[in-house]
Amino acid sequence: MGSMKVSWFAILSLHLAIVLASDPDPLQDFCVPHPRSAGFIRSTVHGMITVPPCKNSSEATADDFVFSGMKVAGNFSDTGLAVVSVSPTNLPGLNTLGMSFVRADIEVGGINPPHFHPRATEIAYVVEGKVYSGFVDSSNKVFDRVLEKGEVMVFPRGLVHFFMNVGDKPATLFGSFNSQNPGLQKIPSAVFGSGIDEKLLQKAFGLTPKQIGTMRRKFDPKGAR
Ligand SMILES: *[C@@H]1O[C@H](CO)[C@@H](O)[C@H](O)[C@H]1NC(C)=O
Ligand SMILES: *[C@@H]1O[C@H](CO)[C@@H](O)[C@H](O)[C@H]1NC(C)=O
Repeated sequence: MGSMKVSWFAILSLHLAIVLASDPDPLQDFCVPHPRSAGFIRSTVHGMITVPPCKNSSEATADDFVFSGMKVAGNFSDTGLAVVSVSPTNLPGLNTLGMSFVRADIEVGGINPPHFHPRATEIAYVVEGKVYSGFVDSSNKVFDRVLEKGEVMVFPRGLVHFFMNVGDKPATLFGSFNSQNPGLQKIPSAVFGSGIDEKLLQKAFGLTPKQIGTMRRKFDPKGAR
């Protein structure tokens, strides 16, 4: 009986640890993945960390810590959004440091549709333009504002947020995340582009099969199923 209690406690603490988890603290100055290594830090359910082969101090160079692909906007989507992300994939020096970074450009009238990052809080800075922006908390209250050039807004981890360029010139924002792998889930494609059974979507949104078809064609990259 005693050992039962202990093991339940262990399982409970394990779950707590997972719920409260953020990126692990670095175990060394930096961990630029060795080109031949599998790369990123892994943690198992037992909380053990496997440190992959990293470049040592003499192998790493300044190039591992610099990314030059953010001087200009990325490619624009059909919602008028262009995103360039900096992650350990294109900036190896970021690996294990618990951060990542993004540049977002939005055309006049363009949007970054409602989305969230499951593993990171984001803080965004408006470099140029005028952007209607906000997030929704778990009581469905919206916290929104038109941000002017030079203003900063924070989007708490896991909460749905959005942007729309309401100015008369292109807008540019830079954002940083407190995870090297924040994750991104876009609400429209998670709902209509993931293959959720059509009957459920009809009931959830009060839409007809035809309307569901329209949404699926719009948000499922593989087309309506
Ligand atoms: C760094 O790694 C290289 C290649 O594995 C090795 O030859 C060198 O001795 C190492 N340097 C240090 C300071 O550990
Ligand atoms: C933009 O598209 C081009 C051509 O498909 C591609 O080579 C380039 O990497 C893309 N740029 C970004 C920032 O994704």
